[in-house]
Amino acid sequence: MGVGGVAVFPADTVYGLACDALTRLAVERLYRLKRRRLEKPSAVMFFDVELALAALPELRPRTRGALERLLPGAVTLLVPNPAGRFGLACGEDPATLGVRVPVVPGLDGVKWPVLQSSANRAGGPDARRLQDVPEPIRRGADLLIDGGELPGTPSTVIDLRRYEDEGTWSIVRIGGADEATVTAALAGQFHFDPVSYPDMIREDIPVYDVLQDELVLASGESALRVLELGTGTGETARRLLARHPGARLIGVDASAAMLAAARASLPAERVELRVAAIEAPLPDGPFDLVASALCVHHLRGAAKRDLFGRIHDTLAPGGLFVLADVVVPVDSADAVTSLSPGFDHPSPLPDQLRWMGEAGFAWARVTWSRADLAVVVAERSGALGTI
Ligand SMILES: C[S@@+](CC[C@H](N)C(=O)[O-])C[C@H]1O[C@@H](n2cnc3c(N)ncnc32)[C@H](O)[C@@H]1O
Repeated sequence: MGVGGVAVFPADTVYGLACDALTRLAVERLYRLKRRRLEKPSAVMFFDVELALAALPELRPRTRGALERLLPGAVTLLVPNPAGRFGLACGEDPATLGVRVPVVPGLDGVKWPVLQSSANRAGGPDARRLQDVPEPIRRGADLLIDGGELPGTPSTVIDLRRYEDEGTWSIVRIGGADEATVTAALAGQFHFDPVSYPDMIREDIPVYDVLQDELVLASGESALRVLELGTGTGETARRLLARHPGARLIGVDASAAMLAAARASLPAERVELRVAAIEAPLPDGPFDLVASALCVHHLRGAAKRDLFGRIHDTLAPGGLFVLADVVVPVDSADAVTSLSPGFDHPSPLPDQLRWMGEAGFAWARVTWSRADLAVVVAERSGALGTI
């Protein structure tokens, strides 16, 4: 990189071409190899999130938070570039920079930002294996790094240029990162800050602790394998572990920041925390108990129904699903929990009970409700059928 060389390297998506991001001659060589016009943008790639954040000091707090949530991973983030940094990667628009931080074991110690583009001819197919990289590109490059077979799907390109001021973003190209995970990470950004969350949620839901206690009460006794969806800062998990002293819990949440707070307060030997959207495949079961508090209402109706089916399938026979959440109340005067359009999608209780039935649960019933909050428990049929 230091003498203007061009490398073919494995990213976490497809094979890429990289060169020093600040050396014009190297960039021109890279573009020539690809037969890409110089006015077309590429992206700057870091191999460490901290280095990326340090190199872009003009990023404002929300955008910076979005980078912290989405990186590293199979995404290219288009961010405002008021200082015109890494201009050679910007094509004709120096005010916009594409940023990538891939997960590439073996390259994660690399401290040098590179300008990168996919290792193909402009408009040609992406290279999944080193031998798929067009021969003239391989011949023209100075270094070839063989990383074996890659996923073959390019990065998801997300436009974050209006995120700071308007809270909006768009997916320019869907790729390796699915839309649900991106949406959960970006929408949650505005709502869930692990430091203010405990006070914020109790102010918004005065019966928050009662709701948690009722969930735990409905969760049976002596579960050993517990899955929690939307673990957040770990408030529900902590109570579940106390109620089920022999249990190990897997917690899933789209927010790495919330899970970091949970990790700090939960016993590491009993808990495994995973950053993922609940719309993505659930961890492998079987589980004795699946629990979720104040998370499932972030899904629209059809996605809830799909989730209930997947929860049913991941439960052991006789296993319980306990849901504590905000719902659409029968009387609209009971709709007291504050909701954000586009982010909160509560459904009426009868719909949710029906979806549980359609998912295959033997029975489902409401064990507690207050205004627009409810706790529902459903059981998967036992091995010998239903009583
Ligand atoms: C209101 S908090 C609830 C946390 C905890 N269960 C409690 O009761 O305090 C909702 C959590 O769900 C997470 N979340 C929202 N939508 C999600 C999704 N689609 N997939 C995974 N997590 C999601 C948020 O990041 C947040 O941590």
